[in-house]
Amino acid sequence: MQERISPATRICGEICLPGDKSISHRYAMLAAIAEGESRIHNYSTGADCHSTLGCVRALGIAVDEQGSDVTIQGRGLDGLMAPAGDLDAGNSGSTMRMLSGILAAQPFTSRMVGDESLSRRPMGRVIRPLTEMGASISAREGGFPPLEIRGAKLRPIDYTLPVASAQVKSSILFAGLYAAGTTVVREPVRSRDHTEIALRELGAEIRVERRMITLEGRPRLTGRELFVPSDISSAAFFLVAALLVPGSELVVRGVGLNPTRSTLLDVLMSMGASIRVRDVEQRNGELAGQVVVKSSAIRGGMIEKETTAALIDEIPVLAILGAASQEGLLVRDAAELRVKETDRITTASENLKRMGIQCEVMPDGIRVPGRQRFRAAELDSFGDHRIAMAFSIAALLADGACEIRGADAASVSFPEFYRILRQVA
Ligand code: S3P
Repeated sequence: MQERISPATRICGEICLPGDKSISHRYAMLAAIAEGESRIHNYSTGADCHSTLGCVRALGIAVDEQGSDVTIQGRGLDGLMAPAGDLDAGNSGSTMRMLSGILAAQPFTSRMVGDESLSRRPMGRVIRPLTEMGASISAREGGFPPLEIRGAKLRPIDYTLPVASAQVKSSILFAGLYAAGTTVVREPVRSRDHTEIALRELGAEIRVERRMITLEGRPRLTGRELFVPSDISSAAFFLVAALLVPGSELVVRGVGLNPTRSTLLDVLMSMGASIRVRDVEQRNGELAGQVVVKSSAIRGGMIEKETTAALIDEIPVLAILGAASQEGLLVRDAAELRVKETDRITTASENLKRMGIQCEVMPDGIRVPGRQRFRAAELDSFGDHRIAMAFSIAALLADGACEIRGADAASVSFPEFYRILRQVA
């Protein structure tokens, strides 16, 4: 599918976005192995989180969907059933990596497959610790999907993550639920902590001290009512649009403000963004509130180290912000971008170049000089949802209409993206 995006004169209105993708995955997986019913409100409408629901169903769990309200009948830690066929994770790295942790502990073998993009993504990072815990996992040469996971009685480990990855951390913690004893995960830098919060919420004994997480195995998890805040990574596209299009003012309601995710707002504000946060409340241990943004002169600057890790999903749209900023943007320590749904350093720079934007690509980042003008161009999602959405925002700033090829990739995390964009632009 192709989308035609015309330059925007301003971005205005009040919007509410679908549920957070990261939190939705975790709630669905944990609700399946908790005891009793969980009702999840504002579950992500994206295809990725539906891949997770499909896998959960294939493991014998009853799932009822009424719009974005999802009811899951949990069967307890030992209630999953051997799937009749392959488990399909679609495009979703989160589904494959996090669910592997649960499958590693089952008394059956399962095979997880993914689409073309997922089949190129590294799984060695979960295979290594889960194998250390006792599971047998075979993958395609080089550690790529499909994964065949022969579950086992797991033993706890004390594992130091070689790269910052909340998916890998979660996979080990999910496996640790099944191991008798104490599982410890140590992180090089703090990554999103939705798993730790959700586990505590459902009754697990979990402690966090700086960058060390300690989980006691074999807890009794209890199903409950869960509310998913709106996805701050989806909000990012609209925030950047409103900052850059003159005369804009946008209110985004119910945005997830977990401090391990809201670094985006801190960085934007440090660069001169007019952003106000109000009506913050906490539900199921997660913060959410209203974000009000007005168009602003953005200074630009540098993003590196733990800041890069904390807003890794937002880098493509921040590269666009950088080109429009006064001093430009330098992103470092972002080698992980190369193993996302696409190599986002390459796909983002390719689209920037098509728009006449100069940028310098590095092995672990990108430098985008400021004060540049976006030329209308034919752009491509390269099948990557965040590239589709980021460059739809760039198109709003162009000197004419842009075509985005493969724009439907957005539905992986945010099927309503183009409808909401038309509503505010
Ligand atoms: C996610 C963690 C990040 C992020 C992804 C979602 C999660 O990936 O890029 O979109 O839900 O835990 P990594 O764990 O690979 O860093």
